[in-house]
Amino acid sequence: MDYLEIEPNGALNGTITVSGAKNAALPLMCAGLLTDDTLTLEGWPNLADTHSMNALLQSLNMSTAIDGDTLTLRANGAINPIAAYDLVRKMRASILVLGPLLARLGTAKVSLPGGCAIGSRPVDLHIMVMEKLGAHVRLEDGYVLADAKKGLSGNRITFPSISVGATENALMAASMAKGETTLLNPAREPEIIDLAECLIAMGAKIEGHGSGCISIQGVDTLHGARHKVIPDRIEAGSFAIAAAITQGALTLKNAHADHLDALLKALTQAGAKIKTDTTSINISMQNRPKAVNITTEPYPGFPTDLQAQFMTLMCIATGTSQISETIFENRFMHVPELMRMGADIRVSGGVAEVQGVEALTGAPVMATDLRASISLVLAGLVAAGRTTVGRVYHLDRGYDRLEEKLNACGARISRIKE
Ligand code: EPZ
Repeated sequence: MDYLEIEPNGALNGTITVSGAKNAALPLMCAGLLTDDTLTLEGWPNLADTHSMNALLQSLNMSTAIDGDTLTLRANGAINPIAAYDLVRKMRASILVLGPLLARLGTAKVSLPGGCAIGSRPVDLHIMVMEKLGAHVRLEDGYVLADAKKGLSGNRITFPSISVGATENALMAASMAKGETTLLNPAREPEIIDLAECLIAMGAKIEGHGSGCISIQGVDTLHGARHKVIPDRIEAGSFAIAAAITQGALTLKNAHADHLDALLKALTQAGAKIKTDTTSINISMQNRPKAVNITTEPYPGFPTDLQAQFMTLMCIATGTSQISETIFENRFMHVPELMRMGADIRVSGGVAEVQGVEALTGAPVMATDLRASISLVLAGLVAAGRTTVGRVYHLDRGYDRLEEKLNACGARISRIKE
C-alpha cells in the first residue's frame, strides 16, 4: 500500500486551485439516472470516490465518458436496477442511486452500504423518505428492496434529524413523483443547493433549497443539462488550515468563502488574516494559533468534515481548546495518531480537550478515514522530523493530487509505492 513521507519545510506560500466538490459530484452523478438524455458535469473532481461512483453507475448500464474535468453521463438503455454489494461497500454514497432508480424505474435493489470507520451510518432516513413517497421498502439479505409500481406520489416529509444524503435522495425522487412534496428540516449544505440547481436545469420544479423548507412539484420527465460542480469547500478549508499551521500565506482560487463562514471565523479567532473575494480566499498567519473552541453542526455550522483538520491546528495552539463532534459517533480516530506525534489530547464522549504544545514530532502514523488522513498530513508539515502516513488510499478518496498541490507551495511530501 502507498504511503506518504513528509519532511517539515517551513511556511507554505503560493496559490492553489481548488477542485470541484466530491460531495456535490457524487449526488450529481446519480441525478443522471433520472433522464435518458445526456447530463454533462463540468469541474468534475478526479477522485477515488467519483471513480467508484462511475463504476457503480456503469454497472447500472449508464454510459459515461471522462474528458479531463468533464464527465458526461447517459442512461438511455435498459437500466439495471440492482446496485450490488461489491461496488456499494466501497462507498456509502452509493445509497444515492436509490431515489433516482425508484423515480425512473419504479423499482430498486440497493445493497446496504454498511458502516464505516466514523460510525454506523444507518440509512433509515433514506428508507423513511421513499416510504413517504409511496414506495414499498423491505430489507432482505443485506439489500434495500424498494418498489413503487404505480410511481411515486408527493408528500409532506419532516426529517427528525438532519441528513445530507437523505435530503439528496428525497430531492431526486420527489422531482419525478406525482404532485407536490414538502421537505421540512432538510439539510442546507451548499451541495444540496448545487444538486437542486442541477435538477432545475434538467426541468425539475424546486423552491426553497438551502432553507428549512423545500417544495418540489413533480414532473413526468427530466431532460439533460450541462452543470458546473461547485468548488470543494472541505478541500479549500483543509488548505486554509495548512496555511495557518505552517504560518504561511496561501491564495485559494475557485473557492467560495461564503461556503466556509464557520471555519474562516474560527481561523480569524485563532489569529489568521483572511481576505476574500467572490472566487478566492487569501489566508496568512504570522504566529502560533490561539486556542479556539469549536462544535461541529449541520451547515452553516462548523463542518464535521473539517473537525480533524482543525484539531491538528489546535494541537500547537497557545492554550487549551475544546472540540465537540456532534454529527458522527466515532470521528476521533485521528486522536491516537496525533498523540503519537506528541499531541496532548483527552477525549471524553464527543468532546476532545486539546492542550496546545510547542511542537509536534514526526512519527509513522496510520490514516483511518478520509479526513483523519489529511489531519495527519497537516501535522507532518510542521512536526520536527519525518512523518510517514500509511493507508493513503483513504486520502485519495477525497483529495486530487494533494501532494502536488502542497509541494508547489513549498511542502516536502513524497508518495512511496510499497
Ligand atoms: C454526507 O454524508 C457527506 N458525504 C459526509 O462527508 C459528511 O460528513 C456528512 O454528509 C455530514 O455533513 C457525502 O456527501 C458523500 P448525513 P451523509 O446523512 O449524507 C445519521 C466526507 O468526509 N443518519 O448528513 O452520509 C448519520 O449516521 C464525508 O466527505 C442516520 O441516522 O451524512 C450521521 O450521524 C464523511 N440515518 C448524521 O445522521 C440516516 O438515514 C448525519 O449524516 C442517515 C444519516
